[in-house]
Amino acid sequence: MQNPQKPSRVLIIDDDSVFQMATKLAFKGIYEIRSAYNGDEALAILRNQAVEIVLLDIQMRTPDEGLKLIPKIRDLDPDLPIIMTSGMTDYESVREAMRLGASDYVGKSLEQEELLHAVQRQLENQKLKTRNQQKDFQARLEHKTHRLVGNSPSILALRKVIDKARASSFNVVITGETGTGKEVVARQLRKTLEDGTLEPFVAVDSATIQSTTAESQLFGHEKGAFTGADKSTKGIFEEASGGIVYFDEVANMPLSIQSKLLRVLQEKEVTRLGSNKPIPLDFRVVCATNRNLEEMVSKGEFKDDLLQRISVIPISIEPLRKRQEDIPELLAHFSKKHGRPDLKWSDDAIQCVRTYTWPGNVRELGNLVAFVITMAESNEIEISDLPPKFREGLRGSPAVENGTHGKSLYEQVADFEKQVLGRELESSQGNISRMALKLGMDRSHLYTKLKEHGLQSSRSAQKKSE
Ligand SMILES: Nc1ncnc2c1ncn2[C@@H]1O[C@H](COP(=O)(O)OP(=O)(O)OP(=O)(O)O)[C@@H](O)[C@H]1O
Ligand SMILES: [Mg+2]
Repeated sequence: MQNPQKPSRVLIIDDDSVFQMATKLAFKGIYEIRSAYNGDEALAILRNQAVEIVLLDIQMRTPDEGLKLIPKIRDLDPDLPIIMTSGMTDYESVREAMRLGASDYVGKSLEQEELLHAVQRQLENQKLKTRNQQKDFQARLEHKTHRLVGNSPSILALRKVIDKARASSFNVVITGETGTGKEVVARQLRKTLEDGTLEPFVAVDSATIQSTTAESQLFGHEKGAFTGADKSTKGIFEEASGGIVYFDEVANMPLSIQSKLLRVLQEKEVTRLGSNKPIPLDFRVVCATNRNLEEMVSKGEFKDDLLQRISVIPISIEPLRKRQEDIPELLAHFSKKHGRPDLKWSDDAIQCVRTYTWPGNVRELGNLVAFVITMAESNEIEISDLPPKFREGLRGSPAVENGTHGKSLYEQVADFEKQVLGRELESSQGNISRMALKLGMDRSHLYTKLKEHGLQSSRSAQKKSE
């Protein structure tokens, strides 16, 4: 990428030393020049030095040496601007040069003005291209980071609602238990702008807007508005202008702040502290909560008129336990996100995870994957790789009563556990300390387990061996 501090480096590839000299003179103080007098020299320079643009003579040692060089330059750098130059206007060659990937053509003349313009134009195009690529990269990254994974009927319905809400400009309230993906949904509500970027999104934790600094946080301030205001600062609404202000856990917003928010929503303008000039703004408010705001209104804890304003489009997200069919896809998604796309979740492990109640919803599932990736010794994830709370949940759960051998999953896990313990007991010749160490278990827990499985004769064996 180009460094704005440094002049761009131009490589002139031309066997004509007079043209080289004249161009150097014309570009002096504007660009840094490198010279090559034939194709081999040019390639050697391009391989070893950063060059931002190339001026390439069509005719050198042979009439088409310049043309033949184009694909070789393209191999080294597919994006490097190449301006063809020629003393003779041979349109056939120019067409061929363009076909091979040249960016522009300038006929040689004593006046270098046209050449200077062409170089400037190409460098500007290049800058724009880089900027667009960066934007594109950011948009793709954003899309990847905040993907809404799942294909359960409730997620499919949710996607439809999101699409409709996105197309409108109404305020939205998203409800759902903790970790269900409220912020993911809020981010999906951003419209894509004409240049391919997403509209602004400013997330605010509603509880952190403090009365003393609220006005400045929300509306911004001018330099000198109060002690310590050493520069003008935009407030939340101004930052989000043209996009979305996301108030996370809006139920925690103090009543005094609720009044201020209501006023901004009514007036659609803000006045920075220390200024008397209102700034008209265009933004949309998306609020999230896991509480029942109507109930809060009836208790006087939330302003009724604010609720009316913010909840034009209510969106609710189902807890994960009610859309278990999303779990396999989410497991794969988080495995990939944590850099382990190779992780294979056995059917039993998936079944076991599906029966869990997921109080922390998708966030908790992401944590489970992180845990498993850290602890598991192979890429095949079995029930034994899951933390105990997932296995505990299996006991008596009707969802797991259809084990493959007519046994419930819990019974199958218990059988497996017994098998492992029996085998280890034998191989450690009843040495409980060694066995506990090997299995990474607490000794007293191991005793209990052995007893549970009717393997307690080991205790006497263990006594003998210790
Ligand atoms: N459907 C989904 N697909 C992919 N990732 C998801 C999905 N839902 C949630 N997540 C991920 O789970 C985590 C929690 O999501 P998010 O922060 O949006 O939840 P939340 O409802 O806002 O939680 P809280 O109430 O605690 O603020 C994030 O890492 C998010 O990327
Ligand atoms: Mg959240």
